[in-house]
Amino acid sequence: MRVLVTGVAGFIGYSLATQLLARGDTVIGIDIVNDYYDVRLKEARLARLVDQGGDRFRFHRIDFADYPALTAALADEKFERIIHLGAQAGVRYSIENPHAYVTANLVGHLNLLEVGRHRGAEHMVYASSSSVYGGNTKLPFSVEDRVDHPMSLYAATKKADELMSETYAHLYRLPLTGLRFFTVYGPWGRPDMMMWLFTKAITEGKPIQVFNHGDMYRDFTFIDDIIAGVIASLDNPPPDDGAVKAGGSVKPHRLYNIGNHKSEHLLKVIDILEAELGRKAERIMMDMQPGDVRQSFADIDAIAGDLGYRPTTSIDVGVPKFVEWYRAYNGG
Ligand SMILES: NC(=O)c1ccc[n+]([C@@H]2O[C@H](COP(=O)([O-])OP(=O)(O)OC[C@H]3O[C@@H](n4cnc5c(N)ncnc54)[C@H](O)[C@@H]3O)[C@@H](O)[C@H]2O)c1
Repeated sequence: MRVLVTGVAGFIGYSLATQLLARGDTVIGIDIVNDYYDVRLKEARLARLVDQGGDRFRFHRIDFADYPALTAALADEKFERIIHLGAQAGVRYSIENPHAYVTANLVGHLNLLEVGRHRGAEHMVYASSSSVYGGNTKLPFSVEDRVDHPMSLYAATKKADELMSETYAHLYRLPLTGLRFFTVYGPWGRPDMMMWLFTKAITEGKPIQVFNHGDMYRDFTFIDDIIAGVIASLDNPPPDDGAVKAGGSVKPHRLYNIGNHKSEHLLKVIDILEAELGRKAERIMMDMQPGDVRQSFADIDAIAGDLGYRPTTSIDVGVPKFVEWYRAYNGG
């Protein structure tokens, strides 16, 4: 299969492309390689994909919010399916730089829907986020719950992406699957996220900032479990049969949570990191950050029932794997 993957230099895009290449697919990758975090990490991921994929990995360094540039880059490319993972991620940065989110996540998402429509894609899988659940207190979060009260602009753009997708499934019968990811971590992960920030600080003997005084819970999901769910989704386009799909659409549009179905206390994760790194963290207790939510917890019944998704990696196994990779990447 030939798959267009956006955000291919990013954490999830890179990890997915590796698995697609391993099973023999051709990957057409897009990424602007922006400097939201260390560009050297993105370049290192790309270099590995070039090595692994040979002529089955093709890369376009473009801004997908620029529609003429996007269509020009894809004019000579052939692909059957799309996985749209590129975005401006991060809850906290959306407070500082709201416009980046509108450009990448709203204009960019529309552009990929247009590509899917005009190129007759068999299926487009796209990234949403657990942040759409906002401050919902009914746990675990289910795709059947209302999500009308986002706590950050980032969350609002992801919810808007789901709504725009619904219209394309309705008007053009473009098969779409939206995946709400829950705090993904693992090798080749993101330097702006808690797991990396804490690992770096503890390793360097620097203090860590513990928000909401540690009273936080996250459904941490290991990257390999996420990729298994993304590939299962890619391989199963929603049928256009009028039946009610996960998330409530009667169009060819499904919404799934991909989490671990375990909501872990932040302090437990810090304990595991301290044990792995062999040093105690200096914890600076902080108030809740604007835009953040106290807890995330994924109900994964929909994706488990439809696609057989079964996450297998607990934080006791996944955190040490991340630490091992972090040490190797940073020179041991
Ligand atoms: N990692 C998580 O825990 C998590 C949780 C919820 C949702 N998500 C979503 O999953 C997707 C992938 O996340 P990730 O963790 O791999 O993030 P990432 O930041 O590592 O990757 C995103 C990539 O998109 C690229 N990009 C951004 N704007 C672009 C543009 N205009 N044109 C071309 N490329 C552009 C960036 O350069 C980056 O390499 C995102 O949509 C994110 O919002 C991730």
